[in-house]
Amino acid sequence: MTHPWWHRAAVYQVYPRSFRDTNGDGTGDLQGIITELPYIAALGVNAIWLSPFYRSPQHDSGYDVADPRSVDPMYGTLDDARELIDQAHARGLKVLVDVVPNHTSADRDWFQQALAAAPGSPERARYHFLDGRGPEGAEPPTNWQSVFGGIAWTRITEPDGTPGQWYLHLFDSSQPDLNWANREVRDDALETLRYWMDMGADGFRVDVALAMAKDMTYPDIDDPVGFIQSMRLDIPKTPEFAQQRARVPNSPVLDRDELVEIYREWRELMDSYPGDRMAVAEAWVLPDRVANYVGGETLHQIFNFDFLSVAWDAETIAGVVDETLAGLAGMQAPPTWALSNHDTPRVPSRLGGGEEGRRRARALALVAHALPGAVYVYQGEELALEDGDLPDAARQDPVWFRTNGEQKGRDGCRVPLPWSGDAPPYGFGASVPESLWLPQPRDWAERTVNAQQDDPQSALWQYRAMLRLRHAHPGLASPELALDVADGVLTIVRGAGFRCVVNTGPSSHSTTGRILVASDPSVTVEGDSVTLPPSTGCWLQC
Ligand code: GLC
Ligand code: CA
Repeated sequence: MTHPWWHRAAVYQVYPRSFRDTNGDGTGDLQGIITELPYIAALGVNAIWLSPFYRSPQHDSGYDVADPRSVDPMYGTLDDARELIDQAHARGLKVLVDVVPNHTSADRDWFQQALAAAPGSPERARYHFLDGRGPEGAEPPTNWQSVFGGIAWTRITEPDGTPGQWYLHLFDSSQPDLNWANREVRDDALETLRYWMDMGADGFRVDVALAMAKDMTYPDIDDPVGFIQSMRLDIPKTPEFAQQRARVPNSPVLDRDELVEIYREWRELMDSYPGDRMAVAEAWVLPDRVANYVGGETLHQIFNFDFLSVAWDAETIAGVVDETLAGLAGMQAPPTWALSNHDTPRVPSRLGGGEEGRRRARALALVAHALPGAVYVYQGEELALEDGDLPDAARQDPVWFRTNGEQKGRDGCRVPLPWSGDAPPYGFGASVPESLWLPQPRDWAERTVNAQQDDPQSALWQYRAMLRLRHAHPGLASPELALDVADGVLTIVRGAGFRCVVNTGPSSHSTTGRILVASDPSVTVEGDSVTLPPSTGCWLQC
């Protein structure tokens, strides 16, 4: 049985702002991605996912889109986008672009027209504009909270200067939510999908794919803070957190059944294009809800946030793998595995930081890449980068501002990549370090691409080896999969004698086999006996 390319794809997430800068302004650009396509292709991935590069005031690093069918001048031109897609294709790489259907930037023409128009007008009906409650409508229409902190409504001043209606924003106030009950909004999104597929895009990553449909009766909710906490990625997976998430299905804004109808239309459009176009949903939902997103007539993949936030513990990891596979049983959709993205702490930082964090991160990567389905790698993960430790004055994430510094936000994982050299800007661009949009750590000299390029013990070599074997080893293509946990050691058995062994326990573990990939130089071999110290792992041929 042959599957379309995305069933077993390895996808590399490019965050354009921080990938590579070619004009020396301190910000990555599309030409920078084109320049480094050979680097990406040599990793052995099948596709790239480009985080937004559309026209945007960058209040949320481009997830505040002012024109979804454009390129922001800071990233380049539409011709650059065309060239990037074509050159990626010439290297055998598929291209996914990010679509942001839930909201627009307040700078989008639509929102500006809505502000200028009257309450009840068709212009306002593209968003959620409501009158406030209480005397003079001075209270917000509902008690819904923003994911980024604070209330999810902002009051406007009407064109005549009087205090006016309120508009909904589940994220920053610069990101008004669109009204998906409005046909015009749906058609506009379809036009955006067509636009990028016509340019050659092979698919989409769908931003906040669980939030577009709203309960149009706008009810208050019992636990307004709790429901939005469930979208936070900086909270580790605990039983309490899982309970909190269990409440989400009744939410007036998250994971509603009306989404199915929306995604059926998307699917129909994608299917009408030649080639295997696909879409992956950014939706953190319980396993019994994934059918709405990938049940066959809707999208193709859904991100697996339980795995992304999993604790460093063999039993927990095995449990998440089991739940993931059970949730998708009987569906056409392959599971997806990612350890990080631009919204989450980098893996070594999440797993304790420092040398120990890096060891765990590299061992956990062996698990992600040994499983059936698709794997996503966030830029810099292959270098085992940690989060940048930023001075507060450098922070830009709206989360930082909206929570008054209570949450640091996501800037730490978005620091520009180190390519070469032993001091900032580490070959990121011709710029002087002061012009970088976020400052880089002083101790990244050993983490650059150049420093790792020729070091067989490096994270970069490990990633290249895993990505090569993903396609070369017949055992990883087979449907066989068995998990075993004992004394903190996780063993994944695939076909053709392939085994992945990862030691999360406190003492060394011995096993047998021939090493295919090891996560750390301390993994030792004597005859056919392999010793795995704590926080290491390897792939074995048995
Ligand atoms: C998604 C993006 C995140 C963004 C948010 C609002 O979660 O991944 O970066 O801030 O949507 O668009
Ligand atoms: Ca630039």
